[in-house]
Amino acid sequence: MDGAPVRDVKNHVLFEVATEVANRVGGIYSVLKSKAQVTTVEYGPRYTLLGPLNRASASVEVEEIAPKDPALVDTIKAMNDRGIKTMYGRWLIDGAPRVLLFDTKTAYGYLDEWKGDLWATSGIPSPPGDDETNEAIVFGYLIAWFLGEYVYHDKTRAVVAQFHEWLAGVALPLCKKRRIDVTTIFTTHATLLGRYLCAGSVDFYNNLQYFDVDAEAGKRGIYHRYCIERAAAHSADVFTTVSHITAYESEHLLKRKPDGVLPNGLNVKKFAATHEFQNLHQLAKTKILDFVRGHFYGANDFDPDNTLFFFTAGRYEYRNKGVDMFIESLARLNHRMKSSGSNMTVVAFIILPAQTTSLTVEALKGQAVIKSLHDTVSQIENNIGKKLFERAITWREGDPLPEEKDVFTAQDRIMLRRRLFAMKRTSLPPIVTHNMVDDANDPVLNQIRRCQLFNHPSDRVKIIFHPEFLNSANPVFPIDYDDFVRGSHMGVFPSYYEPWGYTPAECTVMGVPSITTNLSGFGCYMEELIENAQDYGIYIVDRRMKGIDDSVNQLAEYMFDFTKKSKRQRINQRNRTERLSDLLDWKRMGMEYIKARQLALRRAYPNSFEGDEEEPDFFGSVDVKISRPLSEPGSPRERSGTMTPGDFASLQEIHEGLSTEDYIAWKLPEEEEPEDYAFPLTLR
Ligand code: UDP
Ligand code: G6P
Ligand code: GLC
Repeated sequence: MDGAPVRDVKNHVLFEVATEVANRVGGIYSVLKSKAQVTTVEYGPRYTLLGPLNRASASVEVEEIAPKDPALVDTIKAMNDRGIKTMYGRWLIDGAPRVLLFDTKTAYGYLDEWKGDLWATSGIPSPPGDDETNEAIVFGYLIAWFLGEYVYHDKTRAVVAQFHEWLAGVALPLCKKRRIDVTTIFTTHATLLGRYLCAGSVDFYNNLQYFDVDAEAGKRGIYHRYCIERAAAHSADVFTTVSHITAYESEHLLKRKPDGVLPNGLNVKKFAATHEFQNLHQLAKTKILDFVRGHFYGANDFDPDNTLFFFTAGRYEYRNKGVDMFIESLARLNHRMKSSGSNMTVVAFIILPAQTTSLTVEALKGQAVIKSLHDTVSQIENNIGKKLFERAITWREGDPLPEEKDVFTAQDRIMLRRRLFAMKRTSLPPIVTHNMVDDANDPVLNQIRRCQLFNHPSDRVKIIFHPEFLNSANPVFPIDYDDFVRGSHMGVFPSYYEPWGYTPAECTVMGVPSITTNLSGFGCYMEELIENAQDYGIYIVDRRMKGIDDSVNQLAEYMFDFTKKSKRQRINQRNRTERLSDLLDWKRMGMEYIKARQLALRRAYPNSFEGDEEEPDFFGSVDVKISRPLSEPGSPRERSGTMTPGDFASLQEIHEGLSTEDYIAWKLPEEEEPEDYAFPLTLR
C-alpha cells in the first residue's frame, strides 16, 4: 500500500481462523490442537485463534482471561459495544494458545444485510434455509469486521490471517474487497465437490479434469457453498492444501493451483524408554477386553490371548472413509481364517457416530452381568481365602489338609450358579451397542447383514458397531479414544476420499500398525517417505491402479497376514511403528506453515523483502533425493538438501531466524532388540 506506514513483517501478528477452535468436529480440530504448541513457542502472545463460540465445548475447553494487547482490547470493545458477544481466553491444551470466540447468534440481526452485501460485492448467492451457510456468512462477516478493526488499531505490525476450510472462508473475499491491510492464507482440508462426488458412485480420480464443476455443484444443491469455497481459494494471498492429492483435486475443482502443501503433524510425546508405550498397550488392551467380555457375555468362546482388536473410526462417511471396503474385507478375512483353521479371533470395531436413541438393553445388560460375575467371584475368593486361613490356623499335625468342600460352600456355589445362569443367552451376541434411529436403512448394518457377519460362534471375525465417538464417561464402554487406539492391534482406514487422514497418523505415533490407502494424503506421504512400509506397520492398499475387488482382496490379505504374526512379531512391529513418530511431529511438519506465512507476507509487503531471493516456487522447486538405506528392514527414505515435509515439491525456506536442521535433521533411531527391554516377554 503506497503511502501507508510500513508494517513490521518480522514481528507480525498471526490469527488462525476456523470453526473447530475449541470445538471438536473432525480432523481440523486435531490440526489446531496438536499444532498449538509449536505455534505458541514461535509466536507467544502474537498468536490468537479465532472461531465461533460453541458454549458447551468452550466452557469445558477454555479458561477466560482479559486480553492485554491494546489493539485487541480496543477491537473487542468496539465489537462488544455493537452487541457482539465474545469470549477471550486460553484454550486448555498443550501450548495454551489464546482464543477469541464470537457468539454468532448475537450477530444474526445483520444476516439479511450481510447476505445482500455478499451477493452485491462478491456475486455469491445464499438461498434461504441453509443454516450451515448462514452460520458461515455471519462468522465470515464477524471475522472481516474484526480484522478491519484490528489493523485500524494496530498500524505497526503486519497481520497474517490463516483460514481453514470453506466454513471459515467467507471473510477472504471480504478482506480483498475491503482492502483490509492483512495478508491471508486459505488452507483447504478437502473440497466440497470432492467430498460430495466421492460419496456418490463416481469414478472421481479418473475424471477430475472433466467435471463441469458448476453443474455438478448445482445438481447437488451446493452451488452457493461451492461459490464461497472457490472465492476463498481465489482471494487468498496464498492458497494451500493438506496433501498433494488434494492439491491436484483443488486445481481442477476450485480452478486455482495451490501454492503449496501443508501436511498435518502431531504433537508427539516421546517416552524415555520404548517399553513404556508397550506397557500402555497392555493396560489399554485390558480395558477393551473387559468391554468385549461383557458384549459377548454367554458366548466368550474365544481365547483372549489369541484375540486381536482391529478397528476403524471417523465421521460417518460410509464410502469416503472406506467402511464399505472394510466390512467386505472382514467377510473375506473371516472366510480365510475359517478355512485355514486359524485359532485366532479378530474383534473388529466400527466407531462411527450415527443417529441413535440410546444404548441397547443388551449392551447395558452385558456389562452388568459381567460386573456381577466379577463381584461374586471376588466375594467367593474372599470367602474361600478366609475359610482357608481359619482352617489353616487351627490345623494340628495329623489333621487332613483343607479340601474344596470345606472352603467352597454350598452358599458360594448357589451364588455362582445364579451368575452363570444370568449369562445364558438364546440369541447371538449383538452387532451394535446402540438403538439406531434408522436401523433398517443404516448402510453399515445393511452391509453387515449382506455379508452375514453375525457374531456366530464359528466366525473368526466378530463385529462390534459402536455408533458414537468413544469417551471415558460412557457407561458401557468407558474408554477415551486415545486409550482405545493404544489398546488395539491395528487401525484400518481404507478411505476412498481422504485429504489427509489423522486416524492412521495417530495410530503411528502410538505405535499401532495401521492400514490406509494410496488415495489418502497420509498414505501417499508415508509411501513416498518409507521403503518397505509394511515392516513399519504402515500398510497401504492400492485403490488407484487396482479394481475394487483386487483392493478388497489386498486389504483382506494384509489383515490375514497380520493374524499370522506371533506376539513377539507384533511387539517388534509396534516398536518399529512407534519409531516413525518423529516423522509426523509438528516440529518437522510446522516448517511448511512457516513458509506459507512468509510467502503471504512477501506477497503483501514485497518492499520489505527487497534484496532477498526471488519469490519461491512452492511446487517443483526441489528434486527429491532418495537413497536406499543400507540397513534391513527398510528404513524411511533419507532426504537431503533443503527437503522439508511438504516437499517432493514445496515452498523454499525463506524464514531468516529458523534453522532447517531443527525440522529436517530427522534420523531413524537405532532399533532396540526386544530382549533388551525391561519387561517380561511372553512368547507364543
Ligand atoms: N476421533 C475421535 N474419537 C473417535 C474417533 C475419531 O476423537 O472415537 C478423532 C480422531 O482422533 C481424528 C479425528 O477424529 O483426529 C478424525 O480426523 P480425520 O482427519 O481422520 O478425518 P476427518 O473427520 O477430518 O475427515
Ligand atoms: C506389550 C506388553 C507385553 C504384552 C504385549 C502383548 O508389549 O508390554 O507385556 O505381552 O504388549 O502384545 P499383543 O500384541 O499380544 O497385544
Ligand atoms: C479433513 C479431511 C481429513 C483431514 C482433516 C485435517 O476433514 O477429511 O482427511 O485429515 O481435514 O486436515
